[in-house]
Amino acid sequence: MKITFAKPELPTAGAVAVGVHAGGKLAPTGLRLDRATRGALVQAVKGSRFKAQVGETLSILAPRGLKNSRVVLTGLGATAKLDALAAERIGGALAAHLASSGEAAAAVALDLAPDLAAHLALGARLRSYRFGKYRTTEKADARPSLKSLAVLVDDPAAARRADAPLATTAAAVCAVRDLVSEPANVIHPQSFAAVAQDLAALGVGVEVLGAKALRERGLNAMLGVGQGSAHEPQLVVLEWRGGGKGDAPVAFVGKGVTFDTGGISIKPAQGMEEMKGDMAGAGAALGVIRALAARRARANAVGICAMVENMPSGTAQRPGDVVRSASGQTIEVVDTDAEGRLVLSDALWYAQDRFKPRAMIDLATLTGSIMVALGYEYAGLFANDEALSKQLVAAGAATGERLWPMPFGEAYDDLIKSDIADMKNDGGRWGDSINAAVMLKRFVGKTAWAHLDIAGTAWIKEDQPLAPKGATGFGVRLFDRFVRDNHEA
Ligand code: BES
Ligand code: MN
Ligand code: ZN
Repeated sequence: MKITFAKPELPTAGAVAVGVHAGGKLAPTGLRLDRATRGALVQAVKGSRFKAQVGETLSILAPRGLKNSRVVLTGLGATAKLDALAAERIGGALAAHLASSGEAAAAVALDLAPDLAAHLALGARLRSYRFGKYRTTEKADARPSLKSLAVLVDDPAAARRADAPLATTAAAVCAVRDLVSEPANVIHPQSFAAVAQDLAALGVGVEVLGAKALRERGLNAMLGVGQGSAHEPQLVVLEWRGGGKGDAPVAFVGKGVTFDTGGISIKPAQGMEEMKGDMAGAGAALGVIRALAARRARANAVGICAMVENMPSGTAQRPGDVVRSASGQTIEVVDTDAEGRLVLSDALWYAQDRFKPRAMIDLATLTGSIMVALGYEYAGLFANDEALSKQLVAAGAATGERLWPMPFGEAYDDLIKSDIADMKNDGGRWGDSINAAVMLKRFVGKTAWAHLDIAGTAWIKEDQPLAPKGATGFGVRLFDRFVRDNHEA
């Protein structure tokens, strides 16, 4: 869908969206159209359950006195609460409402300030995402009709300036959604690494460590997870240097299990296909570097994507195997399905050892247990640094990619004691998200570090205001904002 910003001249064809404040009061353009239609708009509000809340829309078809095909009454909610997040949800609601309406073009005349208009566009871009490449027999009337959206504002140039960085971020989010939506026969460690190479065109340093390089560096916990697969593991290292020379970077480390069968501790067949999305953390680590590079962010950042496929086979690791991780600590693999913590333990160690980052954040579809605790709305946040935790929570609140701080501490340490190694990779059923975080903490040294468990937020089963069901691209907007607020000059 193409989005443009233009002066408030109403088109005489297609759809026009006008704003309505909570309580039913029309915004100025709505009032004008209400007069032109001899009160049809006010009458529609009165005759329906439309309350003008954010996210609500009501179409009036073939409005009398106008040549437009429809007027879309668009809820603006309470004026005092009409902020960037609300504008995004309004844009998302409009995109969803118009997508299947049959309209090809719409003008959005909500009388919003330029900055809010840009956020409305962001919401529309994110909500109108679609992974359609494998639908070859779909009829045209099953595809979205809406092709272009013109956002009308008094100062289109200002709206375009505000939109530019948001649009590049939205593109990065959608690229991550593509990667996560792709099945595992298409995205495996090598093909993911090939996609990462494309970032070089944006000025990103791209380095890929294959199995041989990983063996030389002793990343045996990661290698063990991948040893049952026909695809060898790849550690993808992305570097964006837009900040001061010699300034320590921020590191984003992502779990990139391109398919998680569980390995020898194999998962039940029911729903296993969802495990193609077990690389969403790595996808977001790639996505944030892409977003930072695309908007030439004045910060240094590295993205580390730890790519493996967890398969059962004659070469797969067994329950009970002991691996010597890159840090030197040994891990008893009591459950081959708790593979994310094995992969991350090496990736985190490698990241802090090589880059000495000022802050390191990993994100991973790590545990089903975090979905039990937090559902689809919040990602679990674990941090060894209070300031970092606060910064991330704030970035989450600002972008709507919300985080909930979880506890961890010494009390949980005993649960991952092993009889024969330094630790085991499973602490039992209760508090598993915490047990996993407790294990990861042993691989970050003294680095300020946070871990986000995104198992519940990376993939959604129902449409959300800013995302159709499926892959969300969670983490990209959050991290982009985190860098902007805390690490840019
Ligand atoms: N990738 C899964 C976690 C997951 C579950 C992500 C559902 C998204 C949706 C992870 O590797 C896993 O299998 N975790 C196990 C750990 C257990 C074996 C200790 C889990 O959560 O059951
Ligand atoms: Mn698993
Ligand atoms: Zn997994």
